[in-house]
Amino acid sequence: MANPELAIIPQHVAIIMDGNGRWANKRGLPRTVGHSKGVEAVRETVRAAGEAGVKYLTLFAFSSENWSRPESEVNDLLGLLRRFIRRDLAELHRENVRIRVIGERDELQGDILPLLVEAEETTRFNTALTLVIAFNYGARNEIARAVAKLARDVEAGLLTAADIDADRISESLDTAGIPDPDLIIRTSGEERLSNFLLWQAAYSELVFLPEYWPDFDRKLFYDALRIFASRDRRFGGLSNQTAAVVG
Ligand code: FPP
Repeated sequence: MANPELAIIPQHVAIIMDGNGRWANKRGLPRTVGHSKGVEAVRETVRAAGEAGVKYLTLFAFSSENWSRPESEVNDLLGLLRRFIRRDLAELHRENVRIRVIGERDELQGDILPLLVEAEETTRFNTALTLVIAFNYGARNEIARAVAKLARDVEAGLLTAADIDADRISESLDTAGIPDPDLIIRTSGEERLSNFLLWQAAYSELVFLPEYWPDFDRKLFYDALRIFASRDRRFGGLSNQTAAVVG
């Protein structure tokens, strides 16, 4: 990588795309325009992540709590996701992007689940960037489903309680096989995780940006990568510098 500040590229970047509504509000536009502009920011971010050498990009597209929004807005968000898959799948496939979907699948109605599954199936052997779409996703729900699955395995005699450790829990989550996010970005100035990847975020670096999601672009993505590269990740141990002094 030509830029020395970007010597450390996170393997997995996860993004809470926040602020579509406020972006629109500020301009006197309907919220739906903010969401549409948000999809353009998604496209640019996927390209930037692939180009930077990021291997996994997780986007919080629709939370399990988003169903409580007015029906018209829910339909709007579902429509945008639908159109994104329909219009962009061929190009993503050409670019060797693999799509994975995390979130609760039971009881999803209509064509959205078949579309997401088709995107996963079509791209399953792709090896460049993995784009993880969090849809109908809530971390507590994901953890509860994993725990219930492990309890069923114990009941069935496939496991004992003593077999359940952190690795086994990780492998029972929707993100099984995906490394934990190194970097989580949230836009719009809010500084919380809002039920996003709670288990997986144990050692993630958090970067909060003031810009609203529709304004997010390649430059802001690289800004976040630079902030990440400047952080000293210790995972509960000592920093390299301190370790050198102590050792
Ligand atoms: C937050 O803005 C954003 C969302 C709830 C959804 C994000 C969805 C998209 C960008 C479009 C579909 C996604 C893909 C992957 C194609 P907000 O409405 O909560 O903003 P506010 O907090 O300013 O009201």
